[in-house]
Amino acid sequence: MADASREADYDVLYRIMNTRMSVRRIRPDPIPEEYLEKILEAGRWAMSGANGQPWEYLVIKDAKKKKDLYDAFQDTNQEFCFWMEQMRPFELRHPAFQVKGDDLKDEWQKIRNSSGGQQRRPWHEAPVVIVVLGDGRRQWATVNAAFTFGRHASHFTDGLANTCTHMQLAIASLGLGSHWGTVHVQEPLKRVLGVPDLIDVYLIISVGYADIERKPGVRRELKEIVHHDTYDMSKYMSNEDIIDYLYKLRGKTMFRYHLKDSLLPGSGDGDKKA
Ligand SMILES: Cc1cc2nc3c(=O)[nH]c(=O)nc-3n(C[C@H](O)[C@H](O)[C@H](O)COP(=O)(O)O)c2cc1C
Repeated sequence: MADASREADYDVLYRIMNTRMSVRRIRPDPIPEEYLEKILEAGRWAMSGANGQPWEYLVIKDAKKKKDLYDAFQDTNQEFCFWMEQMRPFELRHPAFQVKGDDLKDEWQKIRNSSGGQQRRPWHEAPVVIVVLGDGRRQWATVNAAFTFGRHASHFTDGLANTCTHMQLAIASLGLGSHWGTVHVQEPLKRVLGVPDLIDVYLIISVGYADIERKPGVRRELKEIVHHDTYDMSKYMSNEDIIDYLYKLRGKTMFRYHLKDSLLPGSGDGDKKA
């Protein structure tokens, strides 16, 4: 028989999970120190392969350090992503990099120097930035199969993703906002932060009070993604289906990015699709 108190716990957890959203526009107002501790505390309870706990957290509050890190990020990670994205058809590009114009170098400079549209604010303005670091040697805790059967360093990165998800949920539960700032090129960030060679810079989590309103999330329906007993081939997507799906997904999520109309083909086409 179902246990009502357990279901109440689930309801709270579910509400946090399905109302959390990525917040890319954070106010500079400080957050309570005990909130920061609660976020980090939630992070350390994540699951990891053989309990190797490959994570460490670098907490940045110093304004200059946050800005130096942001500049290094914009000049390497963002620029790298911008050029990689230009290789894809316009509508399949990540919304943040859907630019039009003949002079792409000029378009990149505009993005580099802007805050990235109405829905963004440079993340160094957030009161706290948590940089999640990973120590790959802690993966030695796991069984050898983690390395030898084509799973590469998955026990390392899966564990790091888990600690980050714990923190994202804790952040949402405290009424704060954050987003997942993927690090593509680590080295310049390591130089800013003094991180040793053997330690990875995995993720940037900026934390603070949201400066945008909550919007409904977009997720695939359970009936599309759940199989019973055997794989249901009617749910299998061909390569063409996947591309078609991506086009539709971009259409549905563009409104969450609110790119300036001038950056879009036509006039605000992406927003209309939402
Ligand atoms: C592995 C991963 C990488 C992501 N990378 C970025 C990123 O670099 N920048 C960003 O703004 N959001 C990033 N996100 C956030 C996703 O875009 C976001 O979670 C997704 O669009 C769903 O929206 P929601 O978080 O508002 O529900 C990432 C999320 C994950 C899990």
